[in-house]
Amino acid sequence: MRGAGIPGQHTLPLTAGVNSQEHLVIGGCDVVDLLAEFGSPLYVYDEETIRTRCRQYVAGLSSAVPDALVIYAVKAFANSAIFRVLADEGLGLDVVSGGEIYLAHRSGFPMDRVYFHGNNKLLDEIELAAELGVGRFVVDNFSELGRLDSLGQRLGVRLPVLIRVGPGVEAHTHDYRKTGVLDSKFGIPISTGQAETAVLQAIRARGVDLIGLHAHIGSQIFEMAPYLETVDIVLDFADRMRELHGLTLREFSPGGGWGISYTHEDDPMEPNEVAQTVGLAVWKTAADRGLPMPRVVIEPGRSIVGQAGVALYTVGAIKDIPGVRRYVAVDGGMADNIRPALYGAVYQPLLANRMDEAPSGQMTIAGRYCESGDVLVKDAQMPALHAGDIVALPASGAYNLAMSSNYNLALRPGAVMVRDGEARLIRRRERYDDLLAAETDLD
Ligand SMILES: Cc1ncc(COP(=O)(O)O)c(C=O)c1O
Repeated sequence: MRGAGIPGQHTLPLTAGVNSQEHLVIGGCDVVDLLAEFGSPLYVYDEETIRTRCRQYVAGLSSAVPDALVIYAVKAFANSAIFRVLADEGLGLDVVSGGEIYLAHRSGFPMDRVYFHGNNKLLDEIELAAELGVGRFVVDNFSELGRLDSLGQRLGVRLPVLIRVGPGVEAHTHDYRKTGVLDSKFGIPISTGQAETAVLQAIRARGVDLIGLHAHIGSQIFEMAPYLETVDIVLDFADRMRELHGLTLREFSPGGGWGISYTHEDDPMEPNEVAQTVGLAVWKTAADRGLPMPRVVIEPGRSIVGQAGVALYTVGAIKDIPGVRRYVAVDGGMADNIRPALYGAVYQPLLANRMDEAPSGQMTIAGRYCESGDVLVKDAQMPALHAGDIVALPASGAYNLAMSSNYNLALRPGAVMVRDGEARLIRRRERYDDLLAAETDLD
């Protein structure tokens, strides 16, 4: 098997290679065999890539600060088999709903390492989180702070909270993925004075324990400058809150959002470098201001599972419009990957069953759903494709299945985790009965 220099290598899992049949191999498994065994379409997750990314983040952050925690942003992909790998690597979880909390609990995840985020946590979700003992509530607004205070007082405990502040930092990414700017639905802005009011309220509240501050500026970000700016702004704010209101910053999180390669144009930093740079910035900025060193928590999602996951599709109908375009339709599309339609996300597809073939022209890889916008990749340079060929979309591990739907009553694809030549199902393909499970008028 050859590994180095294969097409699309920097977008593929770390174990990717090509075997003597010119088939793509991931985690020692031939993807053609995987489709034959588990059906098409299929999402393949490489355990080694996930573990390596976890270890890189943990090593980088721990090399910079004495007290470090890496938590995985579950919104990227929620799955109990992956939670177990993460727990084993010492990570925590960033969750945003009762569903994610429930899955973490049912997976046996240590709940004290679970951080509950979200801009409109529902009362029953807050109660579930308190009952199951989540480690932190990351407060996003004043009404939530009031609810947590009341609940804490009712239960006779102080619920541990971080306040999510809005640093007013702009990161270069798609508008839908910016979260640190003033005009955002997330967090309590510093610049308007509202974050100070929230800190004061939390310090005085008897039902919460204000542990620290959090900020998150967006997703799929490649530069470090906006993170360094965020560290500076939030620690400056913490310093003022210490002087004015006696805040002790025991924990600080500058969020997550580090980018991955979807195409050869993306050039992300290695996770250990990212984590070390952020950790050192916190360490130095806190030391310069004479702040006690807080525990530093980072929250990568995409960069843990994104490159680990590959989507596999089978080619069906092919339509040529002479002089215009060739549409190659596959057996998935926007119901399992909404990202191209939602953000204009770009992928570099591979012909997974003939990896040695050179591109012969432009193909548009279309989905099978009833929207003209259901196109996975527009005008990709690919070898000639025929019905039955297998198209792989690398870098599909994050925000694909996580955002999937049953549009057109589509069955969500299955997912397998591969390692050392073994594949195990971590999520079964849906069945028609799953689609009918919530219907109330069937006999
Ligand atoms: C609060 C918070 N933390 C972490 C993340 C993870 O982002 P990413 O998956 O880009 O690392 C997100 C996602 O946008 C988020 O909202």
